[in-house]
Amino acid sequence: MLVLKVKDHEELSERAAGVIADEIRKKQDIVLGLATGETPLGVYRSLIRMHEEEGLDFSKVTTFNLDEYVGLSPTHKESYHYFMHENLFKHINMDPRNVYIPDGMVKDISAYCEWYEKKITELGGIDIQILGIGRDGHIGFNEPGSSLGSRTRIKTLSKETIEDNARFFWGVDNVPRTAITMGIQTIIEAKLIILLASGKRKAEIVRLAIEGPVSSRVPASIIQFHRKAAVIIDQEAASLLTREYSIWGEGEEIYLHL
Ligand code: F6R
Repeated sequence: MLVLKVKDHEELSERAAGVIADEIRKKQDIVLGLATGETPLGVYRSLIRMHEEEGLDFSKVTTFNLDEYVGLSPTHKESYHYFMHENLFKHINMDPRNVYIPDGMVKDISAYCEWYEKKITELGGIDIQILGIGRDGHIGFNEPGSSLGSRTRIKTLSKETIEDNARFFWGVDNVPRTAITMGIQTIIEAKLIILLASGKRKAEIVRLAIEGPVSSRVPASIIQFHRKAAVIIDQEAASLLTREYSIWGEGEEIYLHL
């Protein structure tokens, strides 16, 4: 696991997008694992800019999103389908047939989750998985206590996550209580993992995930076991780390190549 410190959210976004773009240029039919939330928004903005200004081509790229709320239709403004469409897909030349986002409206959730897993395997697995981290250490919707061997399934959201997301739903009572999420084992099988964290409110959980023991109490800590993972954090998110990590230097992105 490589810890790469950058100045701020803007640099974090540019750097992560740069790594993804390099890999798309090398392997046009790359499979990307994507997250929603505030953290990766800058990465998506940078990728859109590269598409518009440099002709970065997404026509053969496949994407799998980590999660979706159960009960929200793709047109619901807080659904992750809507988020991805608005913040990335409608601005680039993705083939809609290559976009996979868990379906929150599906009737037979467990059969659907099995299908999602199979689809990932069928397409050769995820090449690069982008992750954010929740204040409670969740990745996707794998809340504390999630099995480290878990696969795509339905999960109940933690109190902290419900509170954090209340701002998008006009209050705690309207936040969906369950979500479909890729499992921790599904995530960790990606060939390369890039975990992003920005801002002071993530500093404590970043310290626990990077320097604490690997534990289902902090699902993101599993990244310590991955052979090719990078944690890209800005100075604020890095502010409580107790060991020294250098600022992302020249050429270090070479480590991140597939
Ligand atoms: C969403 C997801 C979540 C977020 C996490 C952090 O698809 O995977 O685990 O990454 O909740 O969210 P932000 O980036 O909004 O702080």
